[in-house]
Amino acid sequence: MTHFLDIDKTNPVQLRSIIDTARRMKDARANYAKGALDSEQPLAGHMVALIFEKPSTRTRVSFDVGTRQMGGQTMVLSGADMQLGHGETIADTARVMSQYVDLIMIRTFEEATLLEMAEYASVPVINGLTNRTHPCQIMADIMTFEEHRGPIKGKKVVWLGDGNNTFTSFVHAAGQFGFDLTFTGPEVLEPAQSLLDEARSKGVNIEVRRDPHTAVKDADLVVTDTWVSMHDPQSARERRHNQLRGYQVNEDLMSQAKPEALFMHCLPAHRDDEATSQVMDGPQSVIFDEAENRLHAQKAIMRHCLGV
Ligand code: CP
Ligand code: NVA
Repeated sequence: MTHFLDIDKTNPVQLRSIIDTARRMKDARANYAKGALDSEQPLAGHMVALIFEKPSTRTRVSFDVGTRQMGGQTMVLSGADMQLGHGETIADTARVMSQYVDLIMIRTFEEATLLEMAEYASVPVINGLTNRTHPCQIMADIMTFEEHRGPIKGKKVVWLGDGNNTFTSFVHAAGQFGFDLTFTGPEVLEPAQSLLDEARSKGVNIEVRRDPHTAVKDADLVVTDTWVSMHDPQSARERRHNQLRGYQVNEDLMSQAKPEALFMHCLPAHRDDEATSQVMDGPQSVIFDEAENRLHAQKAIMRHCLGV
């Protein structure tokens, strides 16, 4: 069973092949209308279930459209409307769903839910974000960086703010794609020491710096994310803002990275909190390319999982 659960659980050769497939499929669609079918229809006859226990715009629409472009069909399910949200176990849900569909994508809270789904499903399971990781996003981000700047291997990526789920997938990607990673944020929002230790044990050059200005020096890519994630208590909002104010990505900060540095944000953003609109809409920003590439990267991930 080929699941796509995390970037550190898929080998680098397969990850590279996913990016190559995504680029090839994107190029092949260059002049297509958005609703047009691909010339290849590898998902014909396949049914894909998209389960959401948290809100989503990009993940939901890009998986749905991507499946249809490849000839497959989808059903978008809200966890709250399923028996899953009313006490049925994940294991039973996984076994039942496997009788009906060929592939399951799930966005959920606890990583344990994803892992249990994968353990008991007899069809591939894709991680559409958990509290711990967001691997599909980072596959799109790697694709986006390389489209603009060539191979990411050996480049310096700087993450500002919260050491959250999206950051954890960047840590995994640093190990698999061979780039250097710097985290800069307040001590209380630092990534877990175990994550850093594990990355270093695999040879990843990963640094933690308190001062954002020295951290972004020589950066090839500057990345941030929302200061309050979907799994964080909303009561944390004011405290988070106080802790993170100094880590806002603004033009002054970007000017200290390399002149050709790119800016990324997975979106949705809170404009003028974690990043200013000048940066988000500025010449170094590739935020909407990242969003577009969710579609292409995930189409390649689905093909990888289904072996089609
Ligand atoms: N970046 C991302 O996953 O966006 P959505 O929450 O809209 O899916
Ligand atoms: N870290 C954010 C990412 C949203 C796509 C969250 O989990 O809410």
